[in-house]
Parts: sequence; C-alpha cells; structure tokens
Amino acid sequence: MIIIRNPKKWLFVRKNKIKNKTLGFVPTMGALHEGHLSLIRRSKRENDLTCASIFINPAQFNDKNDLKNYPASLESDIKKLKSEKTDFLFLPDEKTMYSDGYSFKVSENSISKSLCGKSRPGHFDGVLTVVMKLFNIARPDSAYFGEKDYQQYVLIKNMSEAFFMNIEIIPCPLIREKDGLALSSRNRLLSEKERLSAQLLNKALKTGKSKNDIKRILNKSGFNVEYVENKWGRKLAAAKLGKVRLIDNVKI
Ligand code: PAF
Repeated sequence: MIIIRNPKKWLFVRKNKIKNKTLGFVPTMGALHEGHLSLIRRSKRENDLTCASIFINPAQFNDKNDLKNYPASLESDIKKLKSEKTDFLFLPDEKTMYSDGYSFKVSENSISKSLCGKSRPGHFDGVLTVVMKLFNIARPDSAYFGEKDYQQYVLIKNMSEAFFMNIEIIPCPLIREKDGLALSSRNRLLSEKERLSAQLLNKALKTGKSKNDIKRILNKSGFNVEYVENKWGRKLAAAKLGKVRLIDNVKI
C-alpha cells in the first residue's frame, strides 16, 4: 500500500501513472472497523484500484470535546488496510486539507438542517466541505459510503449531482454486531454497561411501532433520544447513551 500525504504528488500519479484505471475511493476518519473494510472490499471488487483516506476532519465537529475524544488508531488502521490489499492511503494533515484557513466551505440549506443537523449545527457543511476537497484530490470514479450515516450519504450524493462532479456515489449496507448494534467507531467509547444497552436502539427500530412509542421505549431504557423519524423509506434514529451519540436506521 502506498501512503500519500501530498495532494500534488497524488494528482501527478493519478493523471500520469494510473489515468486509464478506474479508481474507487473510501474516505474515512480512521478507527476502522468491519463496516469500513466492507467498503474497501466492495471498491476492490468494482474498480481496478482502491484508495482510502484517513483524516479526522475538525470542520465537522460542532463540539470540541467530541473532536478531542474521537478514537484514533492509525497503526492498526494501516495494518487493516494493508491486509485488505488497499492500493493507496491518502493521509493528509490539517494544514494540507485547510490551507485556506477554513475560509471556504460548502453549504447546504435544506436536508442538512434536519435530523442529525438539528443537534449538530454546521456538521454536514463540514462533511460536505471535506468530501469536496477529498474528491478533488483523489479524482475517483466512484466513492463508497456506509448506509449507517444515511443522511450523510444522501447529502453527498446530492452534492455530487448538484456540482456535476461525475463521481458515482455508492451506498453500502450497514454492518452490525451479532446483537444488532450498528458498527461505529464511537462504539469503542461505550462503557460495558452502555454497550449492553446499546443493542436496544436497533431492536426498538425493528419493532415496527410508531415513532413516539419507540422514543418512549428508548427513553425508558436509559437513552436520551434526539429523534426518531421516517424518511427515505427508512426509520432513522439518533440517541445518546451517557456521552456517546449513536445513530441507526432500518428499512421500513
Ligand atoms: O463518515 C465519515 O467517516 C466522515 O464523515 C467522512 C465522510 C470521512 C468525512 O470526514
């Protein structure tokens, strides 16, 4: 696996050495789990070459403590990517990604204000900004996103279409633990007791009960529910267990 830190060097490689190869791209913030690796495997099946990126993007954290506590495990991430035979890893630093000093941003005025966007103001603008930058650097043919972050997937797909980016945005199925908990880098932050309760989020969504009933069930089980909503043919929810914010969604 070739590790790239400099966008200019990568652009040279992309334009000259691998210009006739299809490239699949898997952007991440690290702390990789089976969900991420399923994206890499899919990209490898569907493209000549696959590039992953790891960058913990400050612009998408509206809460400084959340950014400080975000799990990082670079060495083991690199091992995992190598064992999947990922071709390239783009590993930029903050200065490289935000040489503009955060003076430019992509802003969305509709979907980004709802659901997760209500409790995390600015979050999706931060996501869209960094994804636009990463796309412009990587120049992939297709990019792979997990359906766990369904609202993020919809926004990135819409952005790619709105700006004629000519990149296929491919949604990939959510991967779960045996007890139904959606895989997430944040699961590492759950205490033992919280981890046991966390499975109830998916169980409650699957009951087929009304939004309000699900909210009641979860609040009674120790969650602090942010929302349960039906959208895009899915039932989506966000809830906190202690300090850890979990999201999940199921097809209706
Ligand atoms: O889903 C994520 O890990 C991040 O939001 C992404 C898409 C890598 C942008 O930082």
